[in-house]
Amino acid sequence: MKRIIGKNLIISLSILFITIAIAVIISVTLIHSKTLNNSLTKKNIKNSDKLILGFSQIGSESSWRTRNTQSIFEAAADNDIQILFDDAQQKQENQLKAIRSFIVYQVDVIVFVPIVEDGWDNVLQEAKDAGIPVILVDRQINADPSLYAGFLGENGVEEGRRAARYLVNKCKNRSGDINIFEISGTENSSIVEDRARGFREIISTNSKFKIIHSENGDFLRSRGKEIGDMLLASNVLENGNTTNTIYYNKQKIDVIFSHNDSMTLGFLDSMEAHKINPKGKGTIIISIDGEQECIDAMIAGKINCVVECNPNHGQMLMALVKQIARGEPIPRITYNYETVFTEDDNFSKYDPRGY
Ligand code: AHR
Repeated sequence: MKRIIGKNLIISLSILFITIAIAVIISVTLIHSKTLNNSLTKKNIKNSDKLILGFSQIGSESSWRTRNTQSIFEAAADNDIQILFDDAQQKQENQLKAIRSFIVYQVDVIVFVPIVEDGWDNVLQEAKDAGIPVILVDRQINADPSLYAGFLGENGVEEGRRAARYLVNKCKNRSGDINIFEISGTENSSIVEDRARGFREIISTNSKFKIIHSENGDFLRSRGKEIGDMLLASNVLENGNTTNTIYYNKQKIDVIFSHNDSMTLGFLDSMEAHKINPKGKGTIIISIDGEQECIDAMIAGKINCVVECNPNHGQMLMALVKQIARGEPIPRITYNYETVFTEDDNFSKYDPRGY
């Protein structure tokens, strides 16, 4: 009897020992594979001879931006190019980290949308030293041009000019001051500076156009709404009566020039919450991007003009990436095709915008 108990004890202890040994082996393997994942290089992430693109996007602040990201992913898939993606959540420091990790991974090409113009020299020098070409998409930078291969995107100065040309033509028979309230996007971004420059270049030809204020709306719908609310909160006449006309610092606003559709829609959200249609009261509303929701708002009589900013960079970008990977130079600047939509258009000719 004692012998049977002893034998069972030995079997149980053996099973326990084997179980512990297996557990230890599995843990060691998992820890090891995690370390490997943390030190991925191009050699071990590459599952074929696909080109690898490191892509740093600034975030998803607007439907335009979401479409821009989608377009690049779709085109990469069509061209059998692998993407290492990083969403910088609107922070330059995150973009710098992402670009440095792309250098460690030894990607074939780095593509990034620079959130602001300055502060890229060091990281671009590191990419250059590592022999990795860089393409800027959508926004430009202040840096030595030899630090990057080229730029692909929109012509921001021309977009600003187009917005202003629409305004100048719309007001050609009006005399007296025309007060413009500008809702601008991310500070120190090339796109805001370019649009502002192009817009001012055209309106400065007639002194009746006056920009009475420029407010930063960070390209966000929520900020557009806040700005609308702020204007309405001060929309009180001296005798205490409110008015449907919008004022800034007691100056009547004749024109809203908004640097993107998200902020325009946010501004309209605020107006609608107070049952105000500023365009119905003669305020001219001009926006940039061409999102479907803004085109629909124009068709509904709430906006006068939408200058297109084309987010569909994907196919053109992949052509440039393949060109660079073959060791061929690419153009310093490649602009995407863009147009202007106005309230006078035949809306039936519009294709669905896709963003
Ligand atoms: O840089 C392009 C701008 O950024 C677009 O106009 C805007 O919608 C986006 O957020």
